[in-house]
Amino acid sequence: MDKRNRKAVIAGNWKMNKTATEAAALIDQLIPAVQGADCEVVICTPFTSLATAVEKCRGTNIHVGAENVHFEKSGAFTGEISADMLTDLGVEYVITGHSERRQYFAETDETVNKRTLAALAAGLKVIVCVGENLTQREQGITEELVRSQTKIALLGVSAEQLANVIIAYEPVWAIGTGRTATSAQAQEVCAAIRKVVGELYGEEAAKGISIQYGGSMNPGNCAELLAQPDVDGGLIGGASLKADQFSVIVEAASKG
Ligand code: 13P
Repeated sequence: MDKRNRKAVIAGNWKMNKTATEAAALIDQLIPAVQGADCEVVICTPFTSLATAVEKCRGTNIHVGAENVHFEKSGAFTGEISADMLTDLGVEYVITGHSERRQYFAETDETVNKRTLAALAAGLKVIVCVGENLTQREQGITEELVRSQTKIALLGVSAEQLANVIIAYEPVWAIGTGRTATSAQAQEVCAAIRKVVGELYGEEAAKGISIQYGGSMNPGNCAELLAQPDVDGGLIGGASLKADQFSVIVEAASKG
């Protein structure tokens, strides 16, 4: 299976933006803007907007995801949300291991793995984020680091469960900075991720998994990034908050 046979996945990561009221208004704009898409369209919203998003997106081609999930099923974890709480709402996707979680909320490779396993066990599709910071890139350890982040995140994930995993390569230095990885840099690391998946799960699994690029993807640079042989979609921050911008990226992925 090559790129043509993998479905492109364009996911918006809204981060800590939009009240539920504002989310409803944005979704009203998004629904007509992406309705003809020939790719998977996902919006990952703050917890407080999920119920609204699920309700509004029912019967449309927009799938709803959360931005994080806790690994325990329930209990004394004040402020946390379990995978069952998400599936009960009708949420289909969740992001794990976003660099902002790693950087500001002490997320580690181990907790990313636990969250990924819990989400998969509950039947969620998981977008697992990996990526190096600027120092690590300058030290020349990008590939090693991303390989190990990927391996640890996938520990204990069965071959069957892997079908519900998407990996997002997000270089930290490109997130929210307007500084995008070149298409060659994105391709190089996405190919390295596919290689490690092949080592863990075999060639067919590696060919089947969708790998996204994320980091200042926008209407101007998306076509070139999405044209790379190992880039199967995008995880979009800032540009996912504007229906006109997000829909251009969805369109580019549909031409794929
Ligand atoms: P930006 O597109 O705003 O750089 O954010 C990327 C990102 O972190 C998506 O998860």
